[in-house]
Amino acid sequence: MEISKVIVPAAGLGTRFLPATKVIPKEMLPLLHKPIIQYTLEEAVRSGIEDIFWVVNSKKKSIEEHFDYISEEFLETFRSDKKEHLTYLNKIVEKVKFAYVRQHEARGLGHAIWSARHVIGNKHFGIMLPDDVFIGQNPALAQLIKIASQERASVIAIQEVPLSHTPRYGIINIKKQLSPNLFQIRDVIEKPSQTEAPSNLAIMGRYILSPRIFDALEESTVGVLGEVQLTDAIQKLLLSGEKIFGYKIQGTHRYDVGTPLEWMKSNIMLSLRHPAYNQEILQFLNEIDREFTVIESKAIQFSKQRNT
Ligand code: G1P
Repeated sequence: MEISKVIVPAAGLGTRFLPATKVIPKEMLPLLHKPIIQYTLEEAVRSGIEDIFWVVNSKKKSIEEHFDYISEEFLETFRSDKKEHLTYLNKIVEKVKFAYVRQHEARGLGHAIWSARHVIGNKHFGIMLPDDVFIGQNPALAQLIKIASQERASVIAIQEVPLSHTPRYGIINIKKQLSPNLFQIRDVIEKPSQTEAPSNLAIMGRYILSPRIFDALEESTVGVLGEVQLTDAIQKLLLSGEKIFGYKIQGTHRYDVGTPLEWMKSNIMLSLRHPAYNQEILQFLNEIDREFTVIESKAIQFSKQRNT
């Protein structure tokens, strides 16, 4: 099964990050020294993707600009040690074709994917949500492509989460376990409460889906949060008898950058795993750990002053 196209929805309003995202798209916020969206691109390219369709809106021009090819002439204006990051970006950009699709209204993830229906054709394709960053030797999307080809079916990335986190995710109900990491899915449910959740296996933002998803999205009405949910359309495919698998991505770390708190944690975790930063960050964390009691009492004092 050849999977060469992905849709990357990047037209969200980024309201959780306001005011940082008043002008700057959420996807352009940094994760260490790169914008979030660059990690998505790098993973797609390393997974052998040939066409990326970015779903955007009028506020996302800086994403397009970030991926503009930089001419040799312009590169020469940078000092050589600064140039390498841009040369690297050029190299990745060269390897893939881009197109931008407009989502005219912010009606949710399902609607964003549906907005790109005309560019996909009749083959299985990938979806990558930039809020989930996977970093590791073996790219997450490549792992899903392998499973999809092996099973000749749709496959979704899943990961165990604490039960109290199920209201943040789509959750799967298992039909059959095929191997330690591979499951056939019976149902999917978007953002169930802890008591409604059929498992603690959550959908992570990588999917390989059959193009039949567009028919399911076509008929979709709004679901939880008043949005057209991709999960609801996947549930329709399951009900129509389509086989869909869940696969636990192996050997990668996943960073959630979808909320300010998780984004901050991700920056810290990733810096601790990055050879250029880990020693100094670790040293810094040790220092502040020692001073923590002082900092904590100062922080409390400060917030009291602000509230008066
Ligand atoms: C989306 C999906 C959800 C999935 C999650 C993964 O939710 O709707 O099923 O579990 O991404 O990050 P969102 O984070 O957009 O609310």
